[in-house]
Amino acid sequence: MSYNLLKGKKGIIFGALNEKSIAWKTAIRAHEEGAEFVLTNTAMALRMGDTHQLAEATNSIVVAADATSVKDLENLFNVTMEHFGGKIDFILHSIGMSPNVRKKIPYDDLNYEFYLKTLDISAISFHKVIQMAKKLDALNEWGSIVALSYIAAQRTLFEYNDMADAKAALESIARSFGYIYGREKKIRINTISQSPTVTTAGSGVKGFDGLMDFTERMSPLGNATAEECADYCITLFSDLTKKVTMQNLFNDGGFSSMGMSYRAMHMYNKSLECKDCHTNPFEEDDSLPAK
Ligand SMILES: NC(=O)c1ccc[n+]([C@@H]2O[C@H](COP(=O)([O-])OP(=O)(O)OC[C@H]3O[C@@H](n4cnc5c(N)ncnc54)[C@H](O)[C@@H]3O)[C@@H](O)[C@H]2O)c1
Repeated sequence: MSYNLLKGKKGIIFGALNEKSIAWKTAIRAHEEGAEFVLTNTAMALRMGDTHQLAEATNSIVVAADATSVKDLENLFNVTMEHFGGKIDFILHSIGMSPNVRKKIPYDDLNYEFYLKTLDISAISFHKVIQMAKKLDALNEWGSIVALSYIAAQRTLFEYNDMADAKAALESIARSFGYIYGREKKIRINTISQSPTVTTAGSGVKGFDGLMDFTERMSPLGNATAEECADYCITLFSDLTKKVTMQNLFNDGGFSSMGMSYRAMHMYNKSLECKDCHTNPFEEDDSLPAK
């Protein structure tokens, strides 16, 4: 259902690799809501992924840019402003990658070159994007910038590895730049802390299926889907959230406020009961009454 929330608005969407990507779902929703945008990703991702299909479906242009390259970002903003004949209104930073996670290197044996790459791609790129937007004065007043984060920025989660440090930096950049860009140009900057979601980046985290099941059981509303994350992004790009800035906003079905739930405790107890038996408790029927 469309509400025309982004009618006349223009933007840049980073990170739509394939139809599972959160950025992809956001582009589809932004298009439905009347926005026009430029899609961008690395040259390699544009070769390997399906971004050009999305561009066709949303009547967008695609510009290659490595978000860690200031030169690429300068070109991206210049081409975008030329394309639209003026400034833009929103930016989605939906970028994350850790070579340490990819290579299954544990947190207490990190490769530091990879660590720096994780931070550059997943966090510092956010600063580079915002700094370039500000330098080129690319955003209209009351524009909105959103990046995607994860609760591992605040709490330790098994196997999230150096991405946790990157997300902590990402959220801090939203606050630090949110102050400056808000004060000078009335631009708002926020991060959305999203539930685990089945995407190319998400599924790369070890134990991802177990994590999704755990957070589903812990969250009173269940995990938020990529589509629901896209909906939240749309509200933040719209004029309905003009005074929301410098926030990390949880889109997680309530997970971040939970300690233990009935459904998770039930599963945990089951595994304790079965400590000495030889069956796998996770294979048993665990249908539960709603509680
Ligand atoms: N999937 C999850 O469980 C989950 C949960 C919370 C937050 N997030 C965050 O959501 C965002 C989007 O991830 P996703 O889950 O949609 O996965 P995805 O793999 O579809 O998207 C990640 C994107 O980052 C792009 N990217 C990587 N390096 C880049 C670079 N140097 N320059 C520009 N782009 C680059 C990739 O090409 C890809 O399009 C990420 O920030 C991720 O950490 C994901």
